[in-house]
Amino acid sequence: MTAMLPSLALALLCLLRAGAEVPVQQGFSAEKFAGRWHIAAVASNCSVFLKMKDEMKSSITTISFMPEGDLDMKLAWPLPDGCQTFELLFQQSGEAGHYTAAEDRRDLRVMETDYSGYAIVHELQRKEQESSTGLQLLTREQDAGPQLLQKFKELIPTMGLTEDMLAILPKSGEHRDSAGRA
Ligand SMILES: *[C@@H]1O[C@H](CO)[C@@H](O)[C@H](O)[C@H]1NC(C)=O
Repeated sequence: MTAMLPSLALALLCLLRAGAEVPVQQGFSAEKFAGRWHIAAVASNCSVFLKMKDEMKSSITTISFMPEGDLDMKLAWPLPDGCQTFELLFQQSGEAGHYTAAEDRRDLRVMETDYSGYAIVHELQRKEQESSTGLQLLTREQDAGPQLLQKFKELIPTMGLTEDMLAILPKSGEHRDSAGRA
């Protein structure tokens, strides 16, 4: 299972569009953005993601901010044999709502959010072999609802992606322990 981790992290986070102008939520408030979000839908052209997307279930991400403004993202990812967690740290960039993780050449922008209901996050990943771009729909409640999904779908082509790269992640229910019990 440990061997699956890098691909899971990639599947979720390998998201890139080099040189593109990606908007960021105006007046972004880290304080209001922090907390627990459900990952309701993901669209990405990352090949690892595209291979796995039909098996992916909704997961939870918990965002917190360091005193100096860096973003800490904890992910709890449901797997058939347990719930795997991992953590990523992004550095604050010059612009509020825009973060980078230099080592992996990752770039994360909060494109838009109302803080209490939804957020749309854009991620880029630049790698030697493959660069990829992606969008995530985060929701405070597990159900995204048709209007949010529609809004999300409309953004997909504007980021150079297509609808067949979209995964609306089904509910994972209760996380199971490693013996597979509920
Ligand atoms: C993903 O899309 C971006 C933007 O269109 C492009 O630069 C990148 O090469 C694409 N990556 C893959 C793996 O198709």
